[in-house]
Amino acid sequence: MSQDWQQLNTDVIALLKEARQNVLQKMRAPLTVAEKTSRKDLVTNVDKANEKFLIEGIRRLDPDAQVLGEEGFGDQLTSLAGRVWIVDPIDGTMNFVKQQDNFAIMIGIYQDGVGQLGYIFDVMANVLYFGGPQLGGVWANDREIQAPADIALADGLIGASGPLVIHDVAHMQKIVHDSAGMRISGSAGIEIINIMKGETLGYISHLKPWDIAAGQVLMNTLGVRVSTIDGKPLNMLSSNLVLVATKKAQRDILQIEEDDVSL
Ligand code: IPD
Ligand code: CA
Ligand code: CA
Repeated sequence: MSQDWQQLNTDVIALLKEARQNVLQKMRAPLTVAEKTSRKDLVTNVDKANEKFLIEGIRRLDPDAQVLGEEGFGDQLTSLAGRVWIVDPIDGTMNFVKQQDNFAIMIGIYQDGVGQLGYIFDVMANVLYFGGPQLGGVWANDREIQAPADIALADGLIGASGPLVIHDVAHMQKIVHDSAGMRISGSAGIEIINIMKGETLGYISHLKPWDIAAGQVLMNTLGVRVSTIDGKPLNMLSSNLVLVATKKAQRDILQIEEDDVSL
């Protein structure tokens, strides 16, 4: 197992660039689209092929590691011990199918449960966001990203998942009301990118480990908070109702959640 994180980072970037080329190539032919749990939960031939490609590459780079992949081509994880790679081959599959845009390839690398490196590749914009504690920062291609301004909920836009707002889960409608406005992108990875660009101050969604593994590493490195909606650490072996927010906005949102408990 390589402990040289710089070299590993160089190798992962090369792997992701190859993956992006493969995805662009496959997009030239008609997609094979199937429903997973519902008509709004899709998987394509490209999701599957890209996960296989990435996991083969990861096995070559880090043969002793465990790999958790959304489409099931990795390992069955029961613990986060050792090195764990968490892979979302196409994040925003609905966008991929309907828009051919606004989707991402994502990898998070964890060591004994602690995020070390994160990668979110905006495929159509051709911008790879990567970084983590092992690199001491976050970059968008070759440009280092500055930490987003620590603004309060009232002063910025919030990214949200549509169903949470429609069903008013966890006071989403009040949170949106108290913010400057809501934006919905349909990809957890693109939402994290929007925060890195300073376009939104946070994001709330019900997410699986592969939806937030990379984002959590990048956000922590930039001082943006990632927790459950009630302020606890995420469980990276299961689903979480995830709150990503600037420190001030996290405080405002946790207060909204607390106020309800005391009613
Ligand atoms: C989905 C997207 C979406 C989020 C869903 C995820 P997928 O990922 O990130 O924005 O709301 O919860 O499942 O399935 O397209 O990889
Ligand atoms: Ca996916
Ligand atoms: Ca996803």
